Amino acid sequence: MSSPTPPRLSAAIDRATGGTRLRRLRQSDWVRRLVRESDVTPNDLIWPIFVREGDGDPEPVASMPGVFRRSVRGCAEAASEAYDLGIPVVALFPFTGPGQRDERGSQALDPDNLVCRAVRAIKAAVPDIGVLCDVALDPYTSHGHDGLLHDGRILNDETVEILCQQALVQAEAGCDILGPSDMMDGRIACIRSALDGAGFRDRMIMSYAAKYASAFYGPFRDAVGSTGALKGDKRTYQMDMGNTDEALREARQDILEGADMIMVKPGMPYLDILTRLVDEFAVPTFAYQTSGEYSLIMAAAQNGWIDGERAMMESLRSFKRAGAAGILSYFAPSAAALLR
Ligand code: PBG
Repeated sequence: MSSPTPPRLSAAIDRATGGTRLRRLRQSDWVRRLVRESDVTPNDLIWPIFVREGDGDPEPVASMPGVFRRSVRGCAEAASEAYDLGIPVVALFPFTGPGQRDERGSQALDPDNLVCRAVRAIKAAVPDIGVLCDVALDPYTSHGHDGLLHDGRILNDETVEILCQQALVQAEAGCDILGPSDMMDGRIACIRSALDGAGFRDRMIMSYAAKYASAFYGPFRDAVGSTGALKGDKRTYQMDMGNTDEALREARQDILEGADMIMVKPGMPYLDILTRLVDEFAVPTFAYQTSGEYSLIMAAAQNGWIDGERAMMESLRSFKRAGAAGILSYFAPSAAALLR
């Protein structure tokens, strides 16, 4: 920073800045680390995992390089890897073929469905890791929607009734955190009272409070087998991307109804929403770095267009800087490994 013979301008710069030189605090790695306001640790990460029927090796998801669909046993192994990496929670999503789907998403209520078996296997193998389950019907419906479809419309209250049962089935299997991702009105209150009524007062709810109708879920729908299934779009229940006040209303409502934690989704294109919710409610608020966000970083990295590792860490740090308590990310194991 200081040069051997100060140029003529130096005195003028000192006068203009009053001697403040912001670069002073950036001059070496140790001082950058010292003054850093926010950082990511493995404790901030939730790892979404895809579970499939059958045994055998993990099967790659074509649109998500480095992401796999795993057998029930493979999920328990992944959970144990996560535990060793210091990741506190894994989130489970089932891959379901057309044969396992129907109009009402009946499989959601089967206590022996894929997700429930995976929860039990994880809890048996790694009792000290948290397990989060999505509460929504889309992996199980033939039309790919999160709720019941009638005459081209998604029924709200009828869907909520089923979601309560789905939450109970998952809680019974050992799920610690229920994550309603369906965006129906009133579902948090109903799920909370269903859980409490069944003696599951300790189970937490992380509501997908502000979930936008987004193009960034594309690869996920491929991973869970919904791509071909989905009829139309989800814009009558997921939020319109132009709105921020509505996100506050959604979050306020979910917190009043009993959500312990809230989430914003997608992540990177919605950091403004994240910060607004954190500032407004002071409730643990999470960001979901969605499949599309993951895949675009991975694709660019694979082409050599960006440094994948640095882009990964930068993206995760951006969530912490914006105020997130934690991040759901497919990068969780790679990031945690790098942070050790
Ligand atoms: C389903 C659900 C979705 C995701 C999580 N839960 C997709 C959707 O709403 O269509 C997306 C996750 C991702 O893209 O990584 N309710």
